[in-house]
Amino acid sequence: MWMRDDLERILFHETTILARLDELAEQITRDHLGKDLSVVVILHGGMVLMADLLRRVHMPLLIETLTASSYHGGTASKGVVDLREEGLPDVRGRHVLILDDILDTGLTLATVKKQLIESGGAEGVRTCVLLRKKKERPVRVGADYVGFEIGDEFVVGYGLDFAGRYRNLPFIGVLKEDVIRGELAEKGVE
Ligand code: IMP
Ligand code: MG
Repeated sequence: MWMRDDLERILFHETTILARLDELAEQITRDHLGKDLSVVVILHGGMVLMADLLRRVHMPLLIETLTASSYHGGTASKGVVDLREEGLPDVRGRHVLILDDILDTGLTLATVKKQLIESGGAEGVRTCVLLRKKKERPVRVGADYVGFEIGDEFVVGYGLDFAGRYRNLPFIGVLKEDVIRGELAEKGVE
């Protein structure tokens, strides 16, 4: 399998991820029962989590999406979040749960959260990520629901990509150094 061969090691197998999603979904359901909930999914990274997590949340909810990115093809955040304002979902008066694949610098979640409160008029905003990198963050932002904490390394699979690929790996792993170097050299990305 070509994608598996590109990995140095696997961090979380599919069964481990799904078992953790059962727990997160139960917590999310408990915290939001009786509220008007809109889940705002950050694309593309949050789409696999969205499908598996939300099918485990047993209450009525709306699903919205928005596209944000801060990586632009490499393996490190460029510190600027591209967010299309005209695509901001209508969440006025609603409780919002933002879903993303990973909390890295925290810039993406902080930016989206701010927008949904200030421009979107959300009643309350909570955040959920599958992974959180253990690191110092320039922006003071956490996540209310976290699947797993990982070290400060670049991971792929289960929605997370490298140069657009590997999102469809059903598990999460670390790419081999030479795969990263080869791709970046080919693209001319530093
Ligand atoms: P932040 O704004 O620095 O927190 O970056 C979060 C975004 O960067 C996530 O939504 C991911 O799309 C992307 N990202 C951060 N770390 C990784 C990683 O290890 N692999 C793949 N994408 C990542
Ligand atoms: Mg993302």
